[in-house]
Amino acid sequence: GFDIAPMLKSTGNVTYDPGFMNTAATKSEITYIDGGAGILRYRGYPIEQLAEKSSFLETSYLLIYGELPTPTELEAFDQKIRRHTLLHEELKGFFGGFPREAHPMPVLSSAVSALSTWYQDSLDTSDEEQVELSTIRLLAKMPVIAAYAYKKSIGQALLYPDNSHSLVENFLRLTFGTAAEPYVMDPEIVKALDLLLILHADHEQNCSTSTVRLVGSAQANMFASVSAGINALSGPAHGGANEAVLKMLRTIQAEGVSPEDYMEKVKNKEDGVRLMGFGHRVYKNYDPRAKLIKQTAHDILGKLSGGDELLDIAMRLEEKALADDYFIERKLYPNVDFYTGLIYKAMGFPEKMFTVLFALGRLPGWIAQYREMIQEPGLKIGRPRQLYVGHPERDYPTR
Ligand code: ACO
Repeated sequence: GFDIAPMLKSTGNVTYDPGFMNTAATKSEITYIDGGAGILRYRGYPIEQLAEKSSFLETSYLLIYGELPTPTELEAFDQKIRRHTLLHEELKGFFGGFPREAHPMPVLSSAVSALSTWYQDSLDTSDEEQVELSTIRLLAKMPVIAAYAYKKSIGQALLYPDNSHSLVENFLRLTFGTAAEPYVMDPEIVKALDLLLILHADHEQNCSTSTVRLVGSAQANMFASVSAGINALSGPAHGGANEAVLKMLRTIQAEGVSPEDYMEKVKNKEDGVRLMGFGHRVYKNYDPRAKLIKQTAHDILGKLSGGDELLDIAMRLEEKALADDYFIERKLYPNVDFYTGLIYKAMGFPEKMFTVLFALGRLPGWIAQYREMIQEPGLKIGRPRQLYVGHPERDYPTR
């Protein structure tokens, strides 16, 4: 019943597109997705090939600089990042200021935001050298910040990074190691985590990435923009799905419901339950990342937990869903989160850390998108329009 005519008279034509379902806010050369065909490519390279042949470090380079590095370039990139892993001692004091039971996501976003206070030169986003330095600092320090957020939550002392280790190894060491007991590196776990990070590294204009671009379009620096992206990712509708999958599997286990009965509940839309980890706004086919991670889920769970009841439930749900008309008709397939939570759990990460791991993976994507945006000639500040549907003009009442 809303009359749009007066508004159009004052503002000209606008596109009304809630949720930006059909509006491209930018051109981009970074990531290509064809949801119908189940295709994901970074800079033109299929995710399947990167998953098999690349590393998270190399994929980060590819996303940020546009081309795969030569071995010499990769080595230089690696060394630069290793040199920047230390956090300012005063920044470490920051972690003690939060409640012990704090969720690590707001701790992560606060500490990343606070990086601007130590690196004040980074505030000038027109300085290419500063943009490059902020890139390296973020890649090097965010895993350390993430590990410290976890350490504080369990009341353990913070370890110093050891730069003889790679980015991913250092993160595992800082998270699970203690001064009393060094972390024993398992190459299979390092590789699995590396793969998970590659699979999360970019996903074009999702909510957190669009947030990074929008904040950055106001010429806010990279730390501020990435911190905003972390906050967007903290929302359960975006970064929290893998936690939700695990919660669902645990409920099924605790209530002793069979996966078959649970599926009936989902199909009848009883209490609004959905099969968590299924369906995707963009993929109306098998999520290619889910396909890649499925085998790893089996390998890691087989190795670490010697057969896991939750994985068994997950596999039975998956098998049922893929053969069920309800899911086939609606093109509902498992998404990447159907498996990641199970793998993270088997690796020893508490559920609160799942979204943090997502953030670590997505970081190179955020950086690449931020850099692409600020290099755009004639960049415009992001400023969506609205349809005003409130009161017409009225007078302040005389009482
Ligand atoms: N289980 C059961 N039914 C589902 C599911 C599901 N997981 N997902 C969608 N449907 C049904 C809906 O009920 C609807 O049915 P209807 O036509 O009979 O009403 C139909 O499929 C279409 O659903 P929409 O909600 O319109 O689909 P949309 O593309 O908007 O939603 C979403 C995508 C939000 C991911 C949805 O599939 C969902 O809620 N999935 C479960 C949560 C989840 O795994 N989220 C993670 C997404 S991936 C990520 O964030 C990295």
